[in-house]
Amino acid sequence: MNLESRSPGDTVSTSAAARVLRGVDELRAALAPARREGRAIGLVPTMGFLHEGHVSLLRAARAENDVVVMSLFVNPTQFGPNEDLDRYPRDEGRDLRLASEAGVDLVFAPDVPELYPDGAATAVEVTGNLTSVLDGDPQRRGSGHFRGVTTIVAKLFNIVGPDVAYFGQKDAQQAAVIKRMVRDLDFPLEVRVMPTVREDDGLAMSSRNVYLEPADRVRAVALSRAVATCEQQATARGSLDAGLAAARIELAAAAIDPEYLEARDAETLEPVEGLTGRPILVAVAAKVGGARLIDNVVINPHMGRAR
Ligand code: PAF
Repeated sequence: MNLESRSPGDTVSTSAAARVLRGVDELRAALAPARREGRAIGLVPTMGFLHEGHVSLLRAARAENDVVVMSLFVNPTQFGPNEDLDRYPRDEGRDLRLASEAGVDLVFAPDVPELYPDGAATAVEVTGNLTSVLDGDPQRRGSGHFRGVTTIVAKLFNIVGPDVAYFGQKDAQQAAVIKRMVRDLDFPLEVRVMPTVREDDGLAMSSRNVYLEPADRVRAVALSRAVATCEQQATARGSLDAGLAAARIELAAAAIDPEYLEARDAETLEPVEGLTGRPILVAVAAKVGGARLIDNVVINPHMGRAR
């Protein structure tokens, strides 16, 4: 890997191995020449166990930047006490291979004390509606989940200093929260949100899909069917309620009782009564067997869709 010689859009034919860095100082030193020369740095934050969704972010970063950094860190502060931190799937060897194949230059893979040293007492929090509804509802993951996300993402922004950072539309609420943090704290970077990548049958790709037993894997498709049906019906009938009702039928047919199925303004996450003329996020979360899954669609005023 040669940080001096790669240009945005370069095709990576023989995937050079990405360089793995474990320390903050080491990463900053590796990026210093590129930063001095004003070369564009793209960051793809991940918790590893990469799938095609991650790879689509890496490819976008490779096409649009001189230097691509991927972080690989299962962030403990965004997991609640009853969540799956201990069993979260991990396979660093495979992740490094996929990152290298996608043209990543540097993989930042610190251990927990490197990012949360003893006595770490600072958090970054986006307050209010954005983090207290949907997954942020105290009955669900709670706003603490998003405090963990914004804290680690702010740290990564400070460590890497990217020009562009890439996130997936599948985590629509996370993307909205991060965009607000970037705006409110004046991080000098662009947040790019890339479309959800789906399996052939529509299931949104997620590292947590490995928790699904075969029968639950079949049922899980109902989440993507539900949000797609909602978008189709709402658009065709000019009624958000009709769309939501059709989505509920899809979920019930698969014996899925959602934690939530809600329509909200896609940027502010304020509740909406009907089609408002602004993009509307229809988001669903449900436990399917051993996996808690989320999915969403954005109904755009001009009937295009981002899924
Ligand atoms: O989306 C994720 O994988 C994580 O929430 C992120 C953004 C890498 C922060 O840990």
